[in-house]
Amino acid sequence: MLINDALAGKHALVCGASQGIGQACAIELAKAGARVTVLARNRETLNDTVQALSAFGSGHRSVVCDLADTRQLSETMATIGPDVDILVCNSGGPAPGPLTEAGAAALETAFQQHVVSNLLLVQAFTPHMKKQKYGRVINIISTSVKVPLPNLGVSNVVRGATASAAKTFANELGPFGITVNNILPGFTKTQRLEQIIGGRQNKTGADRADVEKSLLSDVPAGRFAEAQETAYACVFLASPFAAYINGINLPVDGGRTGCL
Ligand SMILES: NC(=O)c1ccc[n+]([C@@H]2O[C@H](COP(=O)([O-])OP(=O)(O)OC[C@H]3O[C@@H](n4cnc5c(N)ncnc54)[C@H](OP(=O)(O)O)[C@@H]3O)[C@@H](O)[C@H]2O)c1
Repeated sequence: MLINDALAGKHALVCGASQGIGQACAIELAKAGARVTVLARNRETLNDTVQALSAFGSGHRSVVCDLADTRQLSETMATIGPDVDILVCNSGGPAPGPLTEAGAAALETAFQQHVVSNLLLVQAFTPHMKKQKYGRVINIISTSVKVPLPNLGVSNVVRGATASAAKTFANELGPFGITVNNILPGFTKTQRLEQIIGGRQNKTGADRADVEKSLLSDVPAGRFAEAQETAYACVFLASPFAAYINGINLPVDGGRTGCL
């Protein structure tokens, strides 16, 4: 079997797919044959994404939803229907800043958007996956589940919770042919990276070139990633080729994470 056809007949729901890593995952999943539903808050950029997907098969669609809003998410899941085979849980990262300065509201919103939404999405679609004896849940989170990142306090906390939930789901769902894995992107050329660079500039007063140099000093590959490079890992984990890979954290970080 070629990876090109590996996802023919599968329906993928990709959250946070109007730009960046989520959008790249949607495109690569469609290229591998999946029918893709993309979810995010901005209707216009979602429409552009569906337009881009139409070059790779038919039946792709978009749904507008704020993952931080539980009621909206429940309504949205009802419109999608139960037949999702591949679920990519992804959205925007919490605002940068030290944890010691984080407001309770920021932590609550981040938990809602990342941890509670993840629970509801998994619960909604695993009955279908169990029937099919095939299911893939892929969380796009962060290398901070291995080593907490400076100035990303709230993010570090919610990523740990998401990773722990994923390992728990992996144990509970593994017997049904469903795998649950986390992809941990490194510094990737998207708007999130712009936010991270801006956050460091604000905190240190350094200029952009110096911030980039300091970020890259820890990356053996010596460059930032393209979003597509993370998407390739997503397609592999979504495919039948990855059936025996369950409950892992997969860094796609150019070798940056300093632990095994
Ligand atoms: N890029 C990096 O260097 C990097 C490194 C490590 C980890 N990560 C993490 O990987 C994930 C994806 O990163 P990215 O760089 O692709 O981010 P991005 O460019 O900021 O894209 C985030 C996507 O999520 C959607 N989104 C944001 N908030 C949402 C919400 N409340 N409900 C539904 N959709 C929402 C955004 O669309 P709308 O605004 O239209 O909703 C957009 O499509 C993030 O969690 C990020 O923190 C990124």
